[in-house]
Amino acid sequence: MPRGLLIPLEGLDGSGKTTQIERLAVWLKMRKPAALRAEPGAPGLVCRGGENWDSAGAPGLASETWDSRSGVIVTRQPGGTAIGDRIRALLLDSRSAGLAPMTEMALMFADRAQTIAQVIQPALDQGKIVLCDRFTDSTEAYQGGGRQLGSAPVLELHRLVCANLQPDLTLLLLPSLESSLARARRRNHRTALQSGLDEGRFESETDAFYRRVWEKYREIAAREPARVVLIEGDLSIEEVHERIVAAVAERLRSPAT
Ligand code: TYD
Repeated sequence: MPRGLLIPLEGLDGSGKTTQIERLAVWLKMRKPAALRAEPGAPGLVCRGGENWDSAGAPGLASETWDSRSGVIVTRQPGGTAIGDRIRALLLDSRSAGLAPMTEMALMFADRAQTIAQVIQPALDQGKIVLCDRFTDSTEAYQGGGRQLGSAPVLELHRLVCANLQPDLTLLLLPSLESSLARARRRNHRTALQSGLDEGRFESETDAFYRRVWEKYREIAAREPARVVLIEGDLSIEEVHERIVAAVAERLRSPAT
C-alpha cells in the first residue's frame, strides 16, 4: 500500500492555523477523488517511496480505492494523544514558569515521539493524509529561535527521536507579527475566562521572543523551499484557504521531491 502524506501547518500563535486546518480537512474529504487523481498526461501522484499512485499499471487512485483504503486525519502538537495532552498541560500552563529551555525542548520531542508512534506513523502506513497542527519546525522556531537553543540540537533530536520523519509539504502561515500576537493574546484571555484552562505560558512571552520565532520560521522557509510553502501577509481567511488548497492540489499532482 502506498504511504500516505504528512502535511503540517505551521505559524505563530494566532496565525489562524486551526481554522485553516479544519477547512483543509473538509476540502480534502469533499474533493479528494478529483484532487488526488492526476490530470490526464500528468506524471501521476507519486508517494515518497517512489510508488506511483495513479499511472497505468500502478495501483489507481480511483475514488472507490481511495475511499476504502484511505482518509484524512487531523492531529496536533503538543497534544494529540492522551499522554501528549498531559505533556501539553505541563508545557503550556503559566505555572510551569521555571521550565528550563532544554526541558521544554525535550518535552516537545517526547510529545512528538508519542504522536508519531500512536497516530502519525500508523495513519501514514494506511495511506492516509495526516494534517498536523505544528510539527518539528515549531520546535526549531520556538525553542531553536525563540529560546535561542539554535537549530542544530533540534534537527539532531529530530533525527534521533523522530527517525527524521519529513513532511511531504509544510504550510507556513505568517501574517504580520503584530496581528498574530494581538489575536493570540485575545483568544488566550477568552479561553481562560470561559474554561478556566490556563495555556498562556507562550502567549505571555515578550515581543522580542516572537520576533526571533518569526525570523527562524522565515529562515526555515528559505532553507527548504521545496517543502515549505510560505503564506505571508494579513490575508482574509478565504484568501489563505485558497492558497493552501492550491499548494496542496499541486503537491498531490506532482511527484514527491
Ligand atoms: P498551539 O496549541 O498550536 O497554539 P496556537 O493554537 O496558539 O498556535 O501550541 C501551543 C504553544 O506551544 C505555541 O505557543 C507554540 C508552542 N510550541 C513550541 O514552543 N514548540 C513546539 O515544538 C510546539 C509543537 C509548540
